Amino acid sequence: MKEIKIDVNFKVYASIDELDVVFRDLMTEAVEIRKKAYAPYSKFRVGAAILLENGQVVTGSNQENAAYPSGLCAERTAIFYAGANFPDQKILAIAISACSDLKITNGPIPPCGSCRQSLFEYEVKQENPIKLFCMGGVGEVIESSSVGNILPFHFDKAVL
Ligand code: THU
Repeated sequence: MKEIKIDVNFKVYASIDELDVVFRDLMTEAVEIRKKAYAPYSKFRVGAAILLENGQVVTGSNQENAAYPSGLCAERTAIFYAGANFPDQKILAIAISACSDLKITNGPIPPCGSCRQSLFEYEVKQENPIKLFCMGGVGEVIESSSVGNILPFHFDKAVL
């Protein structure tokens, strides 16, 4: 028997103001699109902004449904749009902002497992890391150097 340890590293910024201007602008877009979320059931709004290699930004927000599982998270709304419309553009970074209408959510909110898996697919496809930034409504921002970093011991096409 042997034991394997996988390290996960993050950078933590006190606020959006500490980010480099490119990523501050990206997070600002995530915050803006978050306000357009369709979240009548959870009242939990999430916005995602994706920076492509050509400088274009693709955004998305969570889209809920009366049949709850038919809804989709913001990160996947955005990444599937990027994948569908810009299949040859590398994705450089994704910024995510999430907060509830019902309570104060200042701490950084990480993406759910399904979104990590979906984002990771594009990182593997493009053979280049996607930087990931996440925050709550306001406050600290966490940076992960890649999606794989927050999806240790992952499943990917290598096993198929
Ligand atoms: N949600 C996201 O948009 N992204 C995540 O990573 C986690 C959850 C959405 C889905 C649902 O509309 C609401 O937040 C509550 O789960």
